Amino acid sequence: MISYSFIYYDLDEDSFQDSKSPNEGADVSEIKGLQRSHHCGELRASDVGKEVTLTGWVNKNRDLGGLHFIDLRDKYGLTQLSFSDFKEDISILKSCHLESVIKVKGKVQARPEEALNKNMNTGEVEVSVESLELLSESDVNSIPFLPFGATEATEDNKLKYRYLDLRTHKLQNMLKLRSETTLKVRQTLHSEDFVEVETPILYKSTPEGARDYIVPSRVHPGSVYALPQSPQTLKQLLMIGGTDKYFQIAKCFRDEDLRADRQPEFTQIDIEVSFATEEYIKNLVTKMLKNLFPLKDDFEIPVMSYDVAMRDYGCDKPDVRFGLKHHIVSDIFKDTDFGVFKSALESGGMIKSIFVPAKMGTFSRKILDGFVNVVKPFGGKGVAFFKVENDQAVGGISKFVSAENLNDLYSKVEKREDGTWLFFADSEDIVHASADALRRHLGVELDLIGDGYEFLWVNDFPLFEYDDGRYYACHHPFTMVKEEQIDQYFSGDVSSPNAELKSLKAQAYDLVCNGYEIGGGSIRIHNGKVQERMFEILGMSEEEVKHQFGFFVEALKYGTPPHGGLAFGLDRLTMILAGTDNIRDVIAFPKTTTASDMMAGAPSVPAMEQFEELHIKPVK
Ligand code: AMO
Ligand code: AMP
Repeated sequence: MISYSFIYYDLDEDSFQDSKSPNEGADVSEIKGLQRSHHCGELRASDVGKEVTLTGWVNKNRDLGGLHFIDLRDKYGLTQLSFSDFKEDISILKSCHLESVIKVKGKVQARPEEALNKNMNTGEVEVSVESLELLSESDVNSIPFLPFGATEATEDNKLKYRYLDLRTHKLQNMLKLRSETTLKVRQTLHSEDFVEVETPILYKSTPEGARDYIVPSRVHPGSVYALPQSPQTLKQLLMIGGTDKYFQIAKCFRDEDLRADRQPEFTQIDIEVSFATEEYIKNLVTKMLKNLFPLKDDFEIPVMSYDVAMRDYGCDKPDVRFGLKHHIVSDIFKDTDFGVFKSALESGGMIKSIFVPAKMGTFSRKILDGFVNVVKPFGGKGVAFFKVENDQAVGGISKFVSAENLNDLYSKVEKREDGTWLFFADSEDIVHASADALRRHLGVELDLIGDGYEFLWVNDFPLFEYDDGRYYACHHPFTMVKEEQIDQYFSGDVSSPNAELKSLKAQAYDLVCNGYEIGGGSIRIHNGKVQERMFEILGMSEEEVKHQFGFFVEALKYGTPPHGGLAFGLDRLTMILAGTDNIRDVIAFPKTTTASDMMAGAPSVPAMEQFEELHIKPVK
């Protein structure tokens, strides 16, 4: 198990817990030749008397009139330097500004009793410096922030000067955790005979539902490469190529709206296996998770169908660490006089409800009125409510709730007890999304979410969504329909919203943990006819198919093993291991929500010559 504890400094040197630094106890110096003899988290009482060389950043520089101390810092910890035996010109210490890099030679000595610092791993000792070399003087007057300073830097500055923020133990711990995660993933997959294969970045469109990033070609005027949204077709071609078990820690690129758990370029642990059944993929994932998370030997991942997930949680990635399930109550209110419910039902929508027992939480009028702000971003127009006190419906919409309505509502929950009934009425999509948002909000606000990891397979996804007059693949267009529906797959009329096609289910599965979708995959189509029919249903002309996927459809003709796989989102997986809810924390050089790199200033306008070379014109 990986165990990391993170420190969020309160920036006083006594609270700089170097025991929480990334490489506690690590033997980092098996290979000789570094400029230092020890790192800054290493020296102990048993080292007293040793001559040592240390290198690092000046974390603190104190002149106590006669007594001079520097706290020297590297990623492993902090060591106090004293200068009573300094043999060189002491004025150099004035140039040792905070964040300067120095190298010192000296002798380890025990600290006097009153100066012991139990909060520091090296707190029993200090190094009495004999010589000092200023390797790189930091311009402390213009430094935008001190990574270990008393004032928290702004988010913008942290991103613009990412290399300064990276000096913090928080981010060094994240990098290490991510590195250990990929190491463990590789261990599991190698132990099962998987081969790691790199696939191209300059490639052709690989549809995963987002826009492509494209790269214009200099050599082929007017043509572009597309950066892969995932290596989906490539890994399938590897199966056709006889690779049997493939994986890759793969960079993927998607031009889509960004969120706290989404980046325009991100990393997948991408897996594909020939002759795999869904059972094989699930067993493999269980083995990988056991190597990554503190899980019991008999750990198994529960399964929930997409329909149940939508009914009970309003989304396909439910956080099942707490209750407050949704209830569909359209039937109960089919004859209601409450305008909001009535108009939602009349226009073909639905009503969902969440019941919060009083023992879990009660809400002031102000809080109840504020719930509208939680659902607004999802299209919700309000959250109707009433309370039950002493078994009587009171407040809110209670005047529209008959005794029979109340009985029917309570038949949905475990027991009849006082509490608050909350309602969402609108089109199905808006109701699901609003009730999901409010449930997640309540989980946090009412402190219902415990520690630990709740994994879940969501499966039985629809194969298609119908929107705006056409069908879209719910997963991607290489996903196989359920075997028992293959006739129906071929018979449905493509030209209209069609019950036959809409009820098709995919052999697809998503892995959910604590309310995040951390992986997704499917059993693939391995038959050219089935694949062609897929493109037909998606409304692609023969010409388009040939242009975009001709090579792939052709490859299916020459002997294709049945195959399946999945991809984990490595960034999201690491987020969950690290206990952070911001994907930027686990990426060394992340982008903002407008897909910009604030440090380097990317994207940027190229030189005129580059436009010309690439046969493209700048925007006027
Ligand atoms: P999918 O599109 O579900 O499947 O992606 C797999 C996993 O990748 C992660 N993910 C992201 N993480 C960060 N930022 C993003 N923009 C982002 N988009 C996706 C999620 C998701 O579960 N080729 C298929 C996999 C397969 O069928 O084998 C695919 O890419 O955690
Ligand atoms: P109104 O009649 O607009 O004053 O709304 C009465 C109550 O219904 C308020 O508590 C609103 O928050 C709530 N409400 C408004 N629209 C919706 C909706 N679409 N779904 C659920 N409740 C709503």
